[in-house]
Amino acid sequence: MGTRTMILLSDAKLFHEAFIEKGAVFASRPRENPTRSIFSCNKFTINAAVYGPEWRSLRRNMVQNMLSSSRIKEFVGTRRQAMDKLIDRLRAEAEGNGGVVSVLKNARFAVFCILLGMCFGIEMDEETVERMDKTMKSVLIALDPRIDDYLPILSPFFAKQRKQALHVRKQQIEYIVPFIQQRRAALQDPGSDKSAMPFSYLDTLFDLKVEGRGSEPSDPELVSLCSEFINGGTDTTATALEWGIARLIQNPDIQSKLFDEIKWTHPPTYFSLTHAATEPATLGGFDIPVDANVESFLPGISEDPKIWSNPEKFDPDRFYSGKEDADLTGVTMVKMMPFGAGRRICPGLTMATVHIHLMLARMVQEFEWTAYPPNSTIDFTGKFEFTVVMKNALKAIIKPRS
Ligand code: HEM
Repeated sequence: MGTRTMILLSDAKLFHEAFIEKGAVFASRPRENPTRSIFSCNKFTINAAVYGPEWRSLRRNMVQNMLSSSRIKEFVGTRRQAMDKLIDRLRAEAEGNGGVVSVLKNARFAVFCILLGMCFGIEMDEETVERMDKTMKSVLIALDPRIDDYLPILSPFFAKQRKQALHVRKQQIEYIVPFIQQRRAALQDPGSDKSAMPFSYLDTLFDLKVEGRGSEPSDPELVSLCSEFINGGTDTTATALEWGIARLIQNPDIQSKLFDEIKWTHPPTYFSLTHAATEPATLGGFDIPVDANVESFLPGISEDPKIWSNPEKFDPDRFYSGKEDADLTGVTMVKMMPFGAGRRICPGLTMATVHIHLMLARMVQEFEWTAYPPNSTIDFTGKFEFTVVMKNALKAIIKPRS
């Protein structure tokens, strides 16, 4: 009772060995700590599930029914609406604030609105979105790792935190279940809810047959699955945007060549999700026990001069000139893996790429972005806050282009 073995990978060859060559062995997740179990409904989410039939059913459902290219295309209206709202919000904030806007907050709001629409299939006003955001944030805060996650012997000293986590879970369920019921009612009586969208992630979950289980997901399980869909794609995408705009301000001449560089230099997280081996295995010749936490430290590859020429230099031309390239999925060789690699690679990769392209393109199309305070140098230090955001939240001056 008490300790966990942690194995930290930070080398491209080891990532390839673990997640591609021995992909099936390292495709599991370690034991959950008690707080995480509360919010994942005992590992009934894609990211938390152990490698097996339950994970396969949930992941296949999300990938095939929600994240295929044709399905992503269907949500063009939702995206357009969110982009228009983003531009309106930026314009209003700039007008009321001498041209200065916060980047992360606005990008986050936009992508959050898209994912909410896709998830619940019902339109929500701004106040509802804000409340939903608060609910989701309190969950992320409750999930912050604590010392008793690793030393359960200390758990009696954290009874208050455990009670608080249960309280947050109760609030999360109470707030979200009515939206689930609203969608269910709209499906049962088509045409009754004028704001209902033609399709949503929830629709794929209501009657989902999960291998090895006799029943469809319960309401609390639906809450966990919906929260995963929304949280998985919000802070990650918005963070990439914040770093992207910062680079853009610093390098006004290379705006159009930005995207590949953002993904590479600033993966929104330092670590991928934790993996675990399904059977005793080896990596780089070292023994890896079952259930050890296998962590992937991503800057280990993005800063490796053996893999990249001048890794510290912001140089999108490296991709466009054909001088260097990288397979984002890591199958041929791992040179960057902001979305992980192998069997657990992020299923939202395509959609996240669409969202980042779209937001960056619209934000640059509508406004010219410069540093705030004027002519100041941007501090590119990061700090960890769910994802790796900029230490000084980026503020920028925007000027409408037309
Ligand atoms: C820039 C945006 C995003 C980044 C950087 C990102 C990154 C990642 C990473 C590093 C993993 C872990 C991979 C591993 O375990 O090896 C992951 C897993 C996951 N992501 Fe994303 N993600 C993004 C957007 C999204 C979106 C938009 C969604 C869905 C709406 C999503 C849903 C998931 C899910 C469900 C998993 C768990 C997969 C599994 O365990 O099988 N992500 N993501």
